[in-house]
Amino acid sequence: MKIGIIIGTRPEIIKMSPVIHECKKRGIAYFIIHSNQHYSQEMDSIFFKELELPEPDYNLGVGFGLHSNQMGNILIEMEPILLQEKPDVVLVQGDTNTVLAGALAASKLDIKVGHIEAGLRSYDRTMPEETNRILTDHMSEYLFAVGPNQYAILAKEGIDGDKIFTVGNTVSDSLFQHLDISASTSTILADLGVTSGKFFLVTAHRASNVDIPANLLELLAVFDKLHAKYSQTIVWPIHPRTQAKLKEFSIELPSYLKLIPPIGYFDFIQLQKHAQLILTDSGGIQEEACLLGVPCITLRESTERPESIEVGANVLVGRDADRALAAADKWLASDAASFSWSNPFGDGHVAETILDIITNSVPSTLEKEII
Ligand code: UD1
Ligand code: UDP
Repeated sequence: MKIGIIIGTRPEIIKMSPVIHECKKRGIAYFIIHSNQHYSQEMDSIFFKELELPEPDYNLGVGFGLHSNQMGNILIEMEPILLQEKPDVVLVQGDTNTVLAGALAASKLDIKVGHIEAGLRSYDRTMPEETNRILTDHMSEYLFAVGPNQYAILAKEGIDGDKIFTVGNTVSDSLFQHLDISASTSTILADLGVTSGKFFLVTAHRASNVDIPANLLELLAVFDKLHAKYSQTIVWPIHPRTQAKLKEFSIELPSYLKLIPPIGYFDFIQLQKHAQLILTDSGGIQEEACLLGVPCITLRESTERPESIEVGANVLVGRDADRALAAADKWLASDAASFSWSNPFGDGHVAETILDIITNSVPSTLEKEII
């Protein structure tokens, strides 16, 4: 049995890390292909270091580009590697361009694809990730769904129920494994001069929010409205895409926004844990906020993670300042100690379950000819 593990961006490195460690622990043969879709130190190598991951066996160095160009380069670079390595199964995680290109490269060589985080749907086809999710799911032999909602979505799309495994999300493994170490090593609160429970945390990187000047200004108006009422410092580890857009549009930011470069996972866990509120358009941060018991205001009109809303941990506000303020008012009127909701994202042992399923069901095809 040999597993090919494909990663490319910050969230994939974080959420695939427990699977890589579990392969190592079980002595399963594996190799890592990193597309290098994310390549800056603070979006890439910092996570390998913190999560004690081995260097990728293959680094495709594709970097940034137009979507087809980026995916085309991944396909071209990946094919000879897969032909040479002949894995029994290739694992991809999430919904990025790396995921779709990796799944397609494997699928074209008749290599089984396992999709971790299968069955998520925002039903917003303007999101590039939605296309990536749907196509990847329909190319996969192993669909590792987070929960029953995702199972139902996949089944409704005609995917054979035998291929769908409800396992939870590896985000829970990564988070639970690193809560203690992040608490003992991170000095981020002191470094930023913020106090636990007395600041808001923001992240934003969706093209729909940051690539159009009017939308980015609307987003900033949300923060203005919240600050006008609550006077909290708003800490914003800024994604490189958003940083580039602020510069391109020559947008100046108010001083209450504490802009910092993207930070490591340990620091980010601690910032989330100690924030009074999280405002984000990220997928993974909606999950982590829910797991950490911190209220989340999602700066989007749809989410592929409705479970966090269903359990009462999250609310969608788009870029509407009034809706954001109403959500903040509701959260902040309650005692933070009373925030508790059920956990829809996994028990922290999801990678183990995934590898149990693969090792019990993949026949060794090492001798199989790949054409
Ligand atoms: C990508 C994924 C998105 C995921 C996000 C996680 C797709 C279509 N998008 O979006 O689903 O939520 O990653 O963060 O796959 N840049 C850097 N350094 C880097 C990476 C990017 O400066 O290490 C800059 C690029 O030059 C570009 C911008 O960030 O200007 C966008 O990068 P890209 O990887 O295309 O998309 P993301 O917005 O990061
Ligand atoms: N994250 C981080 N440092 C940051 C911002 C985010 O380590 O400055 C982590 C966060 O804990 C989560 C992941 O990155 O695990 C989310 O990545 P992102 O929001 O870029 O992608 P998405 O989840 O939206 O695809």
